[in-house]
Parts: sequence; structure tokens; C-alpha cells
Amino acid sequence: MNAPVMNQDIISNWEQRHGRLFGHEVVKLNHRLRETGLFSREAVGRLVERCPPHEFGLEAMDDNPNNPHRLYGIRGDASGLDVIDAIEKGRIWMNIRRVMDWAPEYRKLLDEVFAEFQSRMPGFNTFKRNLGVLVSSPNANVFYHADIQGQSLWQIEGVKKVYLYPRSEAFISGDQVEKILLRETDESMRYEPWFDEYADVIDLQPGEMVTWPLYAPHRVHNHDCLNISVTMEHWSRETWNSYAVHYGNGVLRRTIGWNNASTAPKGLHVYPKAAAAFLWKKMGKQIAGDVVTKRDFKIDASSPDGRVALK
Ligand SMILES: [Fe+2]
Repeated sequence: MNAPVMNQDIISNWEQRHGRLFGHEVVKLNHRLRETGLFSREAVGRLVERCPPHEFGLEAMDDNPNNPHRLYGIRGDASGLDVIDAIEKGRIWMNIRRVMDWAPEYRKLLDEVFAEFQSRMPGFNTFKRNLGVLVSSPNANVFYHADIQGQSLWQIEGVKKVYLYPRSEAFISGDQVEKILLRETDESMRYEPWFDEYADVIDLQPGEMVTWPLYAPHRVHNHDCLNISVTMEHWSRETWNSYAVHYGNGVLRRTIGWNNASTAPKGLHVYPKAAAAFLWKKMGKQIAGDVVTKRDFKIDASSPDGRVALK
């Protein structure tokens, strides 16, 4: 039971330079996650059936392309493999969240992945690590957005076009970072097609992973095939300090109108800002995350688009 999930390196083409680039530049690497057997269709189907309801997300786009609202779904009595079949036919995203919290073999794998990173990058101490599985339909889109923690995307099946934009004021302003951290937006951001001229564009193939700089905006478009991907998130001292500084700047700007533009994640100014961030959350000023109560559709693998509407 104590044998590792992987007996060889999970990243198969690591070079010393990647340690310098990781977290600061777009880095694409080759991985062996598929060899664990934990992400085959059968294994993901079993995960669907084991997933606690509050960690399971199903979303679809409305048939009317002018309706930007997302639809929320339930699995009903469909098996895990039926859900994957339905997603292959439809316009559906499935999120299996926080897998390491309720499936110990995936927790073990996540620990091994980050132990391997740490062995290659001494000082890369991470916490609040997260592993999720994302299954999405042919041609599905994830719109332009940024995330608040360190992030990597690991492709298992199908191909995704990943657009990664520079981490600069032109593509995400300090004000937008604050809004995302304070959860004043739903993380959808203004996007213009010309942004793509400045993007790193990667067709992420099975067996490849990509990671990018903190807060760098990105969007994703699936090729015309079912996609199975793994997302991993992590916090480090640096990402935490950066969060505290941006969050604290946002709080101070909203309370006493104080504009201290320093966003360097080091130095004495980090500590009062971390305190301001903590107090802000304590005071309940942070806007609570949306709680989905409405359900619009149910999975139906026999229907042409994989779902039926719920009244
Ligand atoms: Fe993201």
C-alpha cells in the first residue's frame, strides 16, 4: 500500500533550466500521468460515481448562442461512463473537484508530483494543493480569465488550444487582479481578439502539461474531440505574499483611499497588507461565492446533445 503510484519520474523531460522558468514563464513539459491508470475513461467514470455532490459540477451552454448564461446540470441516474459519452456528444463541461480530499490514491499522486517538483527546485515549498479532473465536449471554450493561485494543466485525452497572454498591465491591470482576489467579479474579463497576437498558443496534446506565471490571463478552446484534463493548483510563500499584497492594496483602497502601488511580494509592506486582507475577510466584506441552487438539465447519454432539460 505504501508503494508509490509512479515508479519513475512523472515529468519525463525535465531540464535544469525549467527550475528557473517555472512560475515565471510559460513552461510546457511531458508527463506520465496516463501510465498511472488513474485517468482512463473507466477510472474517471468511477470517480464520477464516487464524487461527493458538492464537489461535482456539470455546466452547459444554452442552445441559443446569444444567451451567454450557463446552464447547470445533474447526473441523475446516469453511470460515470454514460456521463462521459454524453459529454462527448454535447456542449458540456464536467468538473470533478478536490479529488485528493475523497480519493486517497489521487492524494498520493498529488503528493508525489509536488515532491518531484521540490526535489528539482529546492525551496519550492507548496501548500493548499489541489487536484481536479475536467472532462469537456468537443469545441468547448473556457473564456479569458485569470486564477489566484499557481496553476498547471495536464492533458490526458483529446487536444486543447491554450492561449496564454502576458502577465502585464496591457492584458490584466492591477485593478483587475484586486477585483479577482476580492471576488468582486466572476473572473470573466474583457477580451479583445487582437490579444491573441501577443499570446503563446499551444496545442496541448495527451501526455503534455503546461504551467504559466501567476495571474497570467488565459483561455482554452478544445479541438473537435472529447477532452480529459487534470488541473493542479498550489500555493507557495511567493503566491501567498502576492495574494496578501494585492488583496491588502484592494482593501486599503476601498476603505481609506490609500494608494500604495507596490505589489512586490517581498518586503515589510507585505505584513500590514496581509493583516488588512485578514481583517477584511473577518468583517465579512468579501462577496460570497455563488451557490448554485437552480438545476437546468439532466444527463441523458441517449439524447443527441447528451442532456434533457429539467422543468
Ligand atoms: Fe484558469
